[in-house]
Amino acid sequence: MRGRGGAWRRERDNDAFFREARRRGLRSRAALKLEAIDTRDHLFRDARVVVDLGAAPGGWSQIALRALPPDGRIVALDIAEMEPLAGVEFIQGDFRRPEVLDRLEASVGGRAIDLVMSDMAPNLSGTRVNDQARWRDLAESAARFAGGLLKYDGVFLVKLFHGEETESYLGTLRERFASVAVRKPAASRKHSSETYALARGVRRVGGKNRH
Ligand SMILES: C[S@@+](CC[C@H](N)C(=O)[O-])C[C@H]1O[C@@H](n2cnc3c(N)ncnc32)[C@H](O)[C@@H]1O
Repeated sequence: MRGRGGAWRRERDNDAFFREARRRGLRSRAALKLEAIDTRDHLFRDARVVVDLGAAPGGWSQIALRALPPDGRIVALDIAEMEPLAGVEFIQGDFRRPEVLDRLEASVGGRAIDLVMSDMAPNLSGTRVNDQARWRDLAESAARFAGGLLKYDGVFLVKLFHGEETESYLGTLRERFASVAVRKPAASRKHSSETYALARGVRRVGGKNRH
């Protein structure tokens, strides 16, 4: 990765999860986090339509491809480029921009989504308050998207960065979803503040449910 030094590269190359991902032809170490959460929580059970937010380089989409039936559909989105993956429709753009959201919704084509998974991570500024605000902004947009387009019994998985915004974000998830749990897969570095929120069952107060 550009801008990172030799020490980081050495640490990465010595990392057992990184080596396992590479050995198995997975594009990211992050793929193993999704796989571990799926092993415990069966994210892909009965899933047909999956949206992968912050998808590049494509590790989560690879896990989804392996888990979905042949008629499954994966729409992946990232602000960065992603090398094509057969069976994955990719949209390049900033998820916060309305025209990009419109393209994403058009790709889903009115089909109810079974799983929205967001591994989106903002560029970190190094200032904690700013970084929390950037993460919250992305996570909030992802939750709104999931709340609007998931099936009534759909699943929303989202990356969390622990800090002063986390509890209030979890609170908004609890208002919008029937159950919310926090997961820290083994491949997520112990010293990192990253975890994942797993939300199930969309509450649509006064609205229609998608089946
Ligand atoms: C940790 S990486 C995702 C890794 C991916 N899950 C995998 O397994 O290959 C986070 C991604 O979020 C993307 N991202 C950050 N902000 C974004 C935004 N506003 N819109 C879309 N993607 C964004 C980054 O470009 C980056 O590729």
